[in-house]
Amino acid sequence: SLQRTLSIIKPDAVKKNVIGQIYQRFEEGGLKIVAAKMKQLSQSEAEGFYAVHKDRPFFSDLVKFMTSGPVMIQVLEGDNAIAKNREIMGATNPKEAEAGTIRADFAESIDANAVHGSDAPETAAVEIAYFFSTVELT
Ligand code: CMP
Repeated sequence: SLQRTLSIIKPDAVKKNVIGQIYQRFEEGGLKIVAAKMKQLSQSEAEGFYAVHKDRPFFSDLVKFMTSGPVMIQVLEGDNAIAKNREIMGATNPKEAEAGTIRADFAESIDANAVHGSDAPETAAVEIAYFFSTVELT
């Protein structure tokens, strides 16, 4: 079914200048970019976005990393977009990511892992609303 998912190109990949190469992979995978913005996240924005992880040991490093430079945030739309995007991204830990995935090709570590993607329809809806207002999502 037609879905939307939230995608973030993280500070490591923005610094590497590979936004275009990552967008190409979304497009080739049948995902359409229906909204996008570049943004420097504040500490409170990053903490709020990742609130589900607030009790995990990696939380403070995650927030520090996500605020270390600008990120590119987009809403991707397509058939089965949530799973499709996760397939294109590869495993969270790039050491476990399949060859040809974004994380295998552009990520260095589980922290600096190039991209984020929503993991389920409920989280996609919450994450999209966190960064985009309804008028930005026609
Ligand atoms: P992301 O999909 O953005 O969601 C939370 C992020 O925390 C994850 O990608 C990783 O970059 C980071 N992270 C760091 N350590 C871990 C871990 N042990 N398990 C899951 N995520 C981790």
